[in-house]
Amino acid sequence: MHNIDLHKIDEMITKWLKNVDQIIPNLIAEMETDTKLNRFDLVTNVDKQIQNEFQVFLQTQLEGHRLFAEEKNNDEIDPRQGHVWIMDPIDGTSNLVKQQEDYCIILGYFVDGEPKLSYIYDYPHQHLYKAIENEGAFDNAQVMKQPPNMDIEEAILSFNTQVMNDETIHQLYDASFSHRIIGSCGLDSIRVIKGQFGAHINTNPKPWDIAAQFLFAKELGLKMTALNGGPIDLSTAAPFIISNEGCYSAVLEILNSDMGYER
Ligand code: IPD
Ligand code: CA
Ligand code: CA
Repeated sequence: MHNIDLHKIDEMITKWLKNVDQIIPNLIAEMETDTKLNRFDLVTNVDKQIQNEFQVFLQTQLEGHRLFAEEKNNDEIDPRQGHVWIMDPIDGTSNLVKQQEDYCIILGYFVDGEPKLSYIYDYPHQHLYKAIENEGAFDNAQVMKQPPNMDIEEAILSFNTQVMNDETIHQLYDASFSHRIIGSCGLDSIRVIKGQFGAHINTNPKPWDIAAQFLFAKELGLKMTALNGGPIDLSTAAPFIISNEGCYSAVLEILNSDMGYER
């Protein structure tokens, strides 16, 4: 695939993402919330409608491209084969429902499992982050730079304290500068990508939570691996870390010390 095709697709996607600005306010004004697996697992009409609109866009504008997304059945799709878009239509749905802030749209375009284009659209703050294979990453029109190396002592670490044992949590607190969590895997990852956080850890991500991060990490020299240090399978995802190179090994060492973060 030549760059020229990627640019054309990027233009189409950027336009589509800007168009959602027109529909989100009305969807939020009429917000309907349902629960999925439990009372904390939310989905709204905003999630569903954004995904539906993108599915129609793909079907009509990008022939042969398939959608692997959170609010649909993906049984027939192997995201490692062909032209596949992985989408989280709203990442941070609890934030959308409770705060109307700190949520985003995540999109990753893969060709035979290789990341080609990535988008994290922070609609409430009007920042469109994108990465283009071999061309770097952009925050709106601005080129993003590789964040400088950050030692763990200087790093803010982002992780969900509800899913780790107390000892691991306190070791991470003691070793780092501080802890923050936004509650959107995409936006917590963006903080790492921008050099604000040292690392973000999610112990149970789904492919759509981390689809865009692969290419940002590649383009900006960040580490993105499973928590055992190995590669992440796109089709299943795995407990993951996206991290500044400077603190990556120290964080992984703590997570895997003694019996590990899950004991
Ligand atoms: C969730 C958020 C949250 C993360 C969960 C995700 P959703 O996504 O990214 O920060 O901890 O693992 O499922 O449900 O809002 O799309
Ligand atoms: Ca998500
Ligand atoms: Ca979601």
